[in-house]
Amino acid sequence: MNVPFKTVPATGAKIPAIGFGTFGSDHISNDQMAQAVVLALKAGYRHIDCAQVYGNERQIGAVLGDAMAGRIEGLGPIAREDLWITGKLWNDKHAKVDVGPAFRESLQDLGLDYLDLYLVHWPFPNYHPPKCDVDARSPNARPYIHEEFMETWRELEKLVDAGLVRHIGTSNITRAKLDLLLRDCRIRPAVQEMELHPHFQQQEFVRYVQDQDIVVIGYCPLGSPNRPERDRVPTDTVDMEDPVVMEIAQAHGCHPAAVCLKWAAANGHIPIPLSTKERNIVSNLAAVCEDPLTDDEYLRLRKIDRNCRLIKGQVFLWEEAGGWEDLWDLDGTIPCPPRYVRK
Ligand SMILES: NC(=O)c1ccc[n+]([C@@H]2O[C@H](COP(=O)([O-])OP(=O)(O)OC[C@H]3O[C@@H](n4cnc5c(N)ncnc54)[C@H](OP(=O)(O)O)[C@@H]3O)[C@@H](O)[C@H]2O)c1
Repeated sequence: MNVPFKTVPATGAKIPAIGFGTFGSDHISNDQMAQAVVLALKAGYRHIDCAQVYGNERQIGAVLGDAMAGRIEGLGPIAREDLWITGKLWNDKHAKVDVGPAFRESLQDLGLDYLDLYLVHWPFPNYHPPKCDVDARSPNARPYIHEEFMETWRELEKLVDAGLVRHIGTSNITRAKLDLLLRDCRIRPAVQEMELHPHFQQQEFVRYVQDQDIVVIGYCPLGSPNRPERDRVPTDTVDMEDPVVMEIAQAHGCHPAAVCLKWAAANGHIPIPLSTKERNIVSNLAAVCEDPLTDDEYLRLRKIDRNCRLIKGQVFLWEEAGGWEDLWDLDGTIPCPPRYVRK
């Protein structure tokens, strides 16, 4: 399958227009995820979305090593430059002294000598124990503090200077925070990763980010149907059961999942679906490589947005915060109670 590429405006680099997600949450073991990455590479994916907090970089690194050495049966050796590997800095490693070591640990676990992209996973240094209650609030949690974020960002810039990472970027950042970063950075973010699926399109923000020459990667592109119970609320909607998605799937003779991915491709962003099943891995890739949506289908899908954010981030809330909306600067301002303001 010929996987299309997008050009990263910041560098002219080519990034595969579909990536493979690797967040196994509670239900996919690290070894199962490694096996899924083998299937993905065999299917033709070359863009793998990793993160230290997913806890499986060592197992994925072993697969990448095997793939580059030509040790995977039925798959010739893959050159390093043909892979696009993304890593992410977890929230407990934002301190200036922690960024470099956390990055190097990921690099070592992944068995690589550079990453294609390194993202700040969340713009908050807020750490919570794995699998903690969704309503738990860590006493050390704090809101976004721009000066602190810039200290973290400057460490990422140094990784670019050192030739250890080709691009740096943001994840889960809002327009208000992005504007501050663009104002103060030396090296601009090349990529923003954010939740995007037909029921959560963030149209205005996506256009804004793209107008800044920043590539948009969309996570939970299928609406994360198997996410854990703790990440579900009764008002959540199901993209793949939307009548318009189902009707367009029927017209294309494909699964509704494929329609979600075709919508992402037509929308100009890069989806990073996860699957553990060979059939789905292959059909997801095919969805962005062949049989695109018509203009009319794309426009119909644009109208089914429900503003349904699935990954709300409640566990990152600080003591005085109201609800999860406080993480997303919905009125364009960044909430920061006085006690957190740096004198
Ligand atoms: N930056 C961030 O903060 C952030 C946050 C969340 C996620 N992510 C990234 O985004 C990736 C994708 O998000 P996600 O895994 O939550 O959600 P997703 O890709 O929307 O959905 C994945 C689920 O959909 C099922 N699926 C896949 N293909 C299918 C198909 N063709 N038909 C039917 N079901 C299908 C999979 O089950 P099967 O295994 O049964 O196929 C899997 O459980 C993550 O893995 C991670 O890499 C990033």
